[in-house]
Amino acid sequence: MTTIVIFGATGDLTHRKLIPALYNLYLKNRLSVPFQVVGFARRDWSDDHFREALQGGVQEFSTHSYDAAKWAEFAPNIVYRQGNLDVQADYEQLRAYADDTCLFYMATSPEFFVPIAQNLASVGLADETVGWKRLVVEKPIGYDLQSAQDLNHALQAAFTEPQLYRIDHYLGKETAQNILFFRFTNTFIEPLWNRNYIDNVQITVAESVDVGHRAGYYDHSGVMRDMFQNHLLQLLALVASEPPSSFKADDLRNEKVKVLSAIRPVSLADTIRAQYEGYLDSEGVAPNSQTPTYAALRLYIDNWRWQGVPFFLRSGKALTTKTSEINVVFKQPPHAMFAMPQGQIPRNVLSICIQPHEGINLRFEAKVPDSVHETASVNMGFEYAESFGECIIPDAYERLIYDTLNGDASLFTRSDGIEAAWRIIDPIIRNWEGDKAPPMLSYPVGSWGPEAANHLLEGDGYHWRYDCGNA
Ligand code: BG6
Repeated sequence: MTTIVIFGATGDLTHRKLIPALYNLYLKNRLSVPFQVVGFARRDWSDDHFREALQGGVQEFSTHSYDAAKWAEFAPNIVYRQGNLDVQADYEQLRAYADDTCLFYMATSPEFFVPIAQNLASVGLADETVGWKRLVVEKPIGYDLQSAQDLNHALQAAFTEPQLYRIDHYLGKETAQNILFFRFTNTFIEPLWNRNYIDNVQITVAESVDVGHRAGYYDHSGVMRDMFQNHLLQLLALVASEPPSSFKADDLRNEKVKVLSAIRPVSLADTIRAQYEGYLDSEGVAPNSQTPTYAALRLYIDNWRWQGVPFFLRSGKALTTKTSEINVVFKQPPHAMFAMPQGQIPRNVLSICIQPHEGINLRFEAKVPDSVHETASVNMGFEYAESFGECIIPDAYERLIYDTLNGDASLFTRSDGIEAAWRIIDPIIRNWEGDKAPPMLSYPVGSWGPEAANHLLEGDGYHWRYDCGNA
């Protein structure tokens, strides 16, 4: 029997993501039978009440259309167990699953991560003598380097590192996974993928939503902890790592740790932080909050491949649009053979579009018909929908839960990867709290962020690319 225990089972993540993902896996016959899903939380709910609450989530959030007959088959596999996350005695009722293969999913706030891991271990549920036992850890993994190290040590005292699956949902996105496939299943790209041909790399993860009802959490976190430490640096690692010798979890993760460890400490002058106008009035935000809702960075990777190539990263809330994209900007041709009326030849740009546009686009120059010298930038593009038809792109959680059940940790972050990312982000946050901190800028809701973020690039003669939305 495979048992999936979800801690924090009455919360939003379970409702919106985890159960719809499990339901989708069930539809695709990807859950090994027999299985059961055990919801564990404090509220005094019955099995039936729990199932009814989840049904709405499946109807609303599953990427597949709701099938009442399938739900009727799936739902009886779900049960509810009431318990307090920090009361060891409440875990006794889970002992019954000791002989099963068990996936424990911590969909709770982070203060419960250590008590859950310790309590599971204390009732024998980290023991793999009979079936495997795996523990999924949600973000945030630490608040800074020290707390991340403390958390890693505490989790590793209860479970072994190979039993730990630290989620970064960006790695479960189909388009993010495709970065490695694109780089390493094609021969034409890798020879160009270095300082000789690439001028700069830009990673944008923009959101149009503001902090909304999450202000209480967000004001203690801010964009660096919420987005950069995890999602942006993971995307950067996929773009910049060396080719792993295999797609096995540790080969891949070794390369990601290596490239993150090669990032030069980010100079304060290469950082921009800002808040959107009106942020301070949101309920749950401290009156003089210095929490950034937007940040932009210029950073460098000190290794052979990337020496001297600036990587520009930006992310923020309440911006003009939602887009996650990576724009790789190539160098100009070494010799201008054509007399260009418009001056320099524009740089070629390869855009990896993560969401909501999903695809890859190459912007290059072509001769304008019937002109003598004129060129225009044109696009060569791949779109998922066009190439793969009406296939439904799975939600990140579906893939990540599936991988956990199969013991494939390639898309999960190892403890050293988490700590390498904190070693980059922690000093930036600490510098922002010091005397020499750059001013907290503000930006209008619905803009691209503060003007100063443009200056970060303009000095080098660049501008931020937004090619996926424009393609
Ligand atoms: C989460 C952050 O990890 O990622 C949120 O906590 C953010 O603040 C979200 O909105 C963005 O995810 P996605 O998949 O919508 O880009």
